[in-house]
Amino acid sequence: MAHLLDSAKAGFLTTYGEPAEGVWSAPGRANLIGEHTDYNGGFALPLAIDRRTWVAVRCNGTDRFRVASAMYTGVVEALLSEVGGDQIPKWATYVLGMAAVLDAGYPSSEPRGVDIFVVSDVPLGAGLSSSAALECSVGVALNDLWNLGLSRTDLALAGQRAENTVVGAPTGVMDQSASLKGKADSAILLDCRSNETEVVPLGLRADHLVLLIVDTREEHSHADNEYAERRASCEKAAALLGVAQLRDVDEELLKAGRHLLDDETYRRVRHVVSEDARVLETVRVLRDSGPLNIGSLLTQSHISLRDDFEVTTQRLNLVVDVALAHGAIGARMTGGGFGGSAIALVPENCVDEVINAIGLAFVAAGYGEPGFFRAVASDGARKESD
Ligand code: GLA
Repeated sequence: MAHLLDSAKAGFLTTYGEPAEGVWSAPGRANLIGEHTDYNGGFALPLAIDRRTWVAVRCNGTDRFRVASAMYTGVVEALLSEVGGDQIPKWATYVLGMAAVLDAGYPSSEPRGVDIFVVSDVPLGAGLSSSAALECSVGVALNDLWNLGLSRTDLALAGQRAENTVVGAPTGVMDQSASLKGKADSAILLDCRSNETEVVPLGLRADHLVLLIVDTREEHSHADNEYAERRASCEKAAALLGVAQLRDVDEELLKAGRHLLDDETYRRVRHVVSEDARVLETVRVLRDSGPLNIGSLLTQSHISLRDDFEVTTQRLNLVVDVALAHGAIGARMTGGGFGGSAIALVPENCVDEVINAIGLAFVAAGYGEPGFFRAVASDGARKESD
């Protein structure tokens, strides 16, 4: 990773003509299990992956913000009052949105402007939270440079607020929590109502397992609308069932209230209720007997997302079916769905076969080539260097 640290420093120096004050980084995430539960106040079990976004930053003593990236040409210059306007490219909105939310929440009479240079190896648009990695790297940097003293939970909520109010995506708090609270070789149990977290060791290496990420590279053009619709339908269902959030519904309450819901809404709720239970069961199994026994829970999660919540795609289903047929012990889509990535838990000695088989299946189906990488659970956002 040293090369990305150096690239961040060098890019900053070339762009702004002086060295950065420091470099901070934050990882992307994969969700092991617990999908579309976060905005229902439920449980999720994500991990921070070994792909990170790095930001080199310096306070510039003015009110202006300047943002540049190794992936895009030009320098975006803006006042925080301009954030949310049409002139700012979307990638820079994640940076400036985070700054705007922190500045509004924790105001100061000092000039707050900073210069930022971004480098990253988190794949973009793959459902691995490249946007949360960007928000959280900026969040930890500004927390230090502006002496805000905020907790990881405060920063995660600020990132979610930036996403909801500035970017305009009605997402939950899982991605930012994973990016900020991740721990090496562990998944993080998130209670998305209390924002309490527990570190859950994964022990994949000891059991000769690999967490394989398969990026379908599928354009998810309908993702925003469909995501918002799913969220709205969960909120409507909670109101009909007389609870604050679907977190408060268990199987019994769902049975008793079934007549209040149309068939589609009933299936949406059944996914959320069963998924919350699967997260807790996965944690129990990991602690009692290790990762070799969580495979069927992952696969059940996928089936529920496919049949009840209806957020998978043919490519995601193909990845899961082929991975399972070639030795994966469990597989599922990860993230919001409608494209993006799937994960497969694969014994080390089957990884090559699974990769080959998925590649061939994509060719046979006439799909473009998918991307593959072995994810290692990593530590969350941190300062990397002065
Ligand atoms: C996206 C959102 C998260 C979460 C997942 C689905 O990744 O950003 O908040 O809702 O979808 O679990």
